[in-house]
Amino acid sequence: MKNRKILSAHLIGLIISLIFLSGCDNQKVKLVSLKVEMQENPIGIGTPNPRFSWQITSVKPDLQQKSYQIQVALSEENLKNEENLIWDSGIIEDDKSVLIPFKGEELKSGLKYYWRLRVSTNQGDTDWSKINTWSMALLNESDWKAKWIGEDSMSNPGETDKGNTRLAARYLRKPFTLKNNIERAVLYISGQGVYEAYINGEKISEDVLSPTVSWYPDRVYYNVYDVTPLLKRNDNILGVILGNGRYFGMREVWNQLFGLPRLLAQLEVEYSDGSTDTIISDETWRVTSKGPIVANNEFDGEEYDARLEIVNWNLANYNDSGWKNADIMEAPGGIITAQPNPNIRVQDELTPIKITELGEGKLILDMGQNMVGWLKINSLTGKKDQPIKFRFAETLKDDGNLYIDNLRGAKATDIYIPAEDGNFSWEPKFVYHGFRFVEISGLDYQPELTDFTGKVVYDMMETTGKFETNNEVINQVFKNAYWGIRGNYRGMPTDCPQRDERVGWLGDRTTGSFGEAFIFDNALLYSKWLQDIEDSQSPEGSISVVSPKYWTIYHDDVTWPAAYFYSAKMLWKQFGDTEPIFKHYNSMKRYLERIQEVSMKDYIITKDAYGDWCMPPESQELIHSKDPTRRTAGPVLSTTVYYSLLNIMSEFAELTGNSQDIPGYKELATQIKTAYNNTYFKADSAMYDNNTVTANMLSLRLGLVPEGKEIDVFKNVVEKTVVDFDGHVSTGVLGIQHLMRGLTEYGNIDLAYKIATNRTYPSWGYMIDNGATTIWELWNGNTADPAMNSANHVMLLGDLIIWYYEDLAGIKNHPESVAFKKLLMEPKFPEGLTHVDASYNSVYGEITSKWSKENGRFTWNITIPGNTSAIVKLPKEMNVIAPDHDGVRNVSDSDQGIEIELGSGSYTITGTI
Ligand code: BGC
Repeated sequence: MKNRKILSAHLIGLIISLIFLSGCDNQKVKLVSLKVEMQENPIGIGTPNPRFSWQITSVKPDLQQKSYQIQVALSEENLKNEENLIWDSGIIEDDKSVLIPFKGEELKSGLKYYWRLRVSTNQGDTDWSKINTWSMALLNESDWKAKWIGEDSMSNPGETDKGNTRLAARYLRKPFTLKNNIERAVLYISGQGVYEAYINGEKISEDVLSPTVSWYPDRVYYNVYDVTPLLKRNDNILGVILGNGRYFGMREVWNQLFGLPRLLAQLEVEYSDGSTDTIISDETWRVTSKGPIVANNEFDGEEYDARLEIVNWNLANYNDSGWKNADIMEAPGGIITAQPNPNIRVQDELTPIKITELGEGKLILDMGQNMVGWLKINSLTGKKDQPIKFRFAETLKDDGNLYIDNLRGAKATDIYIPAEDGNFSWEPKFVYHGFRFVEISGLDYQPELTDFTGKVVYDMMETTGKFETNNEVINQVFKNAYWGIRGNYRGMPTDCPQRDERVGWLGDRTTGSFGEAFIFDNALLYSKWLQDIEDSQSPEGSISVVSPKYWTIYHDDVTWPAAYFYSAKMLWKQFGDTEPIFKHYNSMKRYLERIQEVSMKDYIITKDAYGDWCMPPESQELIHSKDPTRRTAGPVLSTTVYYSLLNIMSEFAELTGNSQDIPGYKELATQIKTAYNNTYFKADSAMYDNNTVTANMLSLRLGLVPEGKEIDVFKNVVEKTVVDFDGHVSTGVLGIQHLMRGLTEYGNIDLAYKIATNRTYPSWGYMIDNGATTIWELWNGNTADPAMNSANHVMLLGDLIIWYYEDLAGIKNHPESVAFKKLLMEPKFPEGLTHVDASYNSVYGEITSKWSKENGRFTWNITIPGNTSAIVKLPKEMNVIAPDHDGVRNVSDSDQGIEIELGSGSYTITGTI
């Protein structure tokens, strides 16, 4: 240890002491969070080489894995006796514990596998872990015996596949007999658009709006459930309700209509005597569309006519003589694929905070939060035949009525018609709304708040991040982001959840996906979305800017499709998942070539579709700026972003063993940089083109600025921001992806902090002060044209959440590291920020950073997960008293500052300032 100094507490400057916080040493190393393909005991894995992950913990510091051993077998006994092993990895000397691929005998369709693990560490060896399992999906198309079935007609009044589509839900049922005692039963099921399945009257799962969305002509996802506990010997029944989802889509326009709903189901039963049975969807099933869900359209809402309820339809002894035999339907066309990402579930509940009477029998319910999901009626009293209407909206007009202009054509209305006078409870099945307020009509009394529950739905995933500071704006923006991000996960990251759009616009997520990944374990969702993106690729190599391509739009531009590359990089860096890069490398390469071919002229990418979308315009009534001095030229955006894609692709080429491609990418990048600077860089003033913050910041952050000119370009960013925009944001979706990190990296964190905490227009704080509880689509979302003022878009978050974590909390991957195996903890201290309390549950375990700067004292509590390490850096004026504890590996003091290398464990660093 160098430069060890002991300074008195009165000294100006910071005194840091490292206090090691751990307890007794004789507790053992523990194995936790054992996962296959990032899930605990998953059912229905479709990949031939599933990957194993685990975490190790210890109360002692500096825990390092030295080796691991994994064993896999077809039964617990085999595993325990080490007989007939499908795989014994042997002792593998490696410190990696994330996404280790299976390398044993070929895995078979439908089988259940048992596995265990032990590791050795610098603190001793673990015992074998408890036994975990996973099961395989149907790996070959030929494993499917089931047929697609449904009702192949529109037979109810008002049903249409034109304009705003309307169709009743289909009810399907199949009674069957199981002749023996059941050992194991697995249901493979896909209902398009969406389904809810029952066995003997019990829902098979809590999943909703299943399966996940896809481009059906290319790919159709199915789910796998172990349903053993729901079945019994003798009489059973499988019942399924089919909703429209995105298959019988909400509108006739664009590519939203694939056909009438259809079901594919195959139940595989193993009896205890070793024999088997298979129950499949076929023409012997019975179907009706005369049930109570008379309409279900994700934009327009669900209508439920309780008079049409079919009591006990999903029990074995129901008489279905009034039903028809199911029609055989054509397969949707795409490859039938095991769904790799979890389904959607109800993951939170809200009780409304207020009911207001509006007159004319209308009530307004306030959920207190802009949320995504639906309203459950716990208990209301209705009158026979008298519909009760629920209309949903994000905001209210001044007169207290719903503001619905920003829903465009979405009717967002659920209707319940009681079958008799009296009490009922109800919730819709096949729709969701983005709303804070609900207008209720058709009741003749005032209900209680507890009569309602807001059900919050999104893809099942863990919340991984917490973040709090002493600044109210930052805390509320974080909260709004949390609600907005999860509200926009619907098997794809959507643009918005309320109006008649709700699709996966690529550009909204390019950099945002990184920030989101601190708050949510979104790895499986994003890797699935990358497949949607590849599926959207045209034979020529173009990528649709919306994926799945329900709006098929090929611009051959760059800034939106860049999300394909950036999200793949995010999965690698954040979660250590390189598989998407291997999988999509060729498709990405084709796309880059396509752009070079059709969108590049003299090394400038000329095509750009959206500009710096949604930048604050000159007048608060406008959606888009018309002022040429504010707008960044399209080629500046597309050329800088394309340049960054070439660099990312060089990294991907290296990683995937395609290094022969690297010289080509590098050469092209060099030529682009030269042409770009010749065209747009004004050497005397160090400005790019018309000197917008976006033009200068993208050039800087994406590495196009000629060496030595960076500081001058940065000065222009600062001057423009401070002088022309009074310390406010002036960028749209493109510039905002780099603004906060850029300002910080080049030394003006105080300006970044001002932008982050502003309450005046344009700012995130302004949104909050104007009632936002999510993030708006426009900086001026309360005054601009309603055609585009969603209150729940996440794209304007840009790199804000990344900045919260990496720069304010100091939780960051070390440049040499992925998945936070090695951390670089280097918080920044803008004036005014006195407390940060953050945590991130990484794939290696929970990282925490909690610091405060108060009354001359600095205190920083940090936790570094087992089997990882950290380089901690603090500004140079700090002086360290470094104790000789285990876990502190090194301390050095240089002109750059203080650097401490730590192994895993919990530490407190204190000092005075
Ligand atoms: C969407 C955006 C999207 C944009 C692209 C909008 O209508 O809501 O989020 O990125 O169009 O033009």
